[in-house]
Amino acid sequence: MSASDDWPEHVRALLEANYLAGDNPRAQSGFGGDEEYWRVARGVIAEAVDRSGSFLDVGCANGHLLECLFAWCASQGHTIEPFGVDILPAMVELARSRLPQWHDRLFVGDARTWKPPRQFDFVRTELVYAPDDGHAELVAHLLDAVVAPGGRLIVCSYGSRTRPEPRAEDLAGVLEAWGHVVAGTRTAVVGERVTTWVGWIDLSPVSSRARSGDPARRRPRSGSIRLPAQCWPSTSSRAPSSRTSGPRWESSGRRRRCPCWCPTPR
Ligand SMILES: C[S@@+](CC[C@H](N)C(=O)[O-])C[C@H]1O[C@@H](n2cnc3c(N)ncnc32)[C@H](O)[C@@H]1O
Repeated sequence: MSASDDWPEHVRALLEANYLAGDNPRAQSGFGGDEEYWRVARGVIAEAVDRSGSFLDVGCANGHLLECLFAWCASQGHTIEPFGVDILPAMVELARSRLPQWHDRLFVGDARTWKPPRQFDFVRTELVYAPDDGHAELVAHLLDAVVAPGGRLIVCSYGSRTRPEPRAEDLAGVLEAWGHVVAGTRTAVVGERVTTWVGWIDLSPVSSRARSGDPARRRPRSGSIRLPAQCWPSTSSRAPSSRTSGPRWESSGRRRRCPCWCPTPR
């Protein structure tokens, strides 16, 4: 693969086979649920978009998330200019064929090293686009090279309705351990399950490098922090809702870091 030599061939083949064979736009984005579930699980990302601006989906697959976010953000009064990048050329081809109006905004690239032709006001990513020991560097690269000054890096963790550990992971502690300030978070909940976690890091308008002042702050204080996933932090902003079923979003503004992972029953 030209985009990344160390990306395992079997992963590329698996993704291509599964996504390209999908018989609906969600499946072609690696999503196993119906439209309603997609709206809840992915719609929460639009909550991180607080103004109009350019929006890059890292790992854009067939571009379905981009087209949905375009509509969802518009319904909130924000116009996004959609862009996407994906490591798989076949996915970018598919996205371009589905979304010819955005043909020139869809790029092939490896998020870990991609040097974009421009920077973006909003950049959505997941950590899984790099191996575990490359997560911190992925975030640092996106902040340094891809997010525009004054822009926002939106970090997502997706859960699943079917996997044994189906909850999305709260990444705030990990991001903060790497020296970033998590400016806000949202979660999407389906039934009793946190299906999507979204957190964002805002760059200073002056320049991306001025974001944290001391560049050392951006280095991981511990590159291998892994918080247990069996419970959800019991910050007041994230207290379990009294609703017990049906999809919902939970939100917090600037979140307070809970140092402990206590066994909050859900
Ligand atoms: C599950 S899809 C995500 C689709 C959509 N962005 C969403 O959030 O629903 C993941 C996509 O990320 C791409 N991907 C994986 N690693 C990547 C990397 N290092 N750089 C760019 N794209 C990557 C895969 O090829 C795949 O198309």
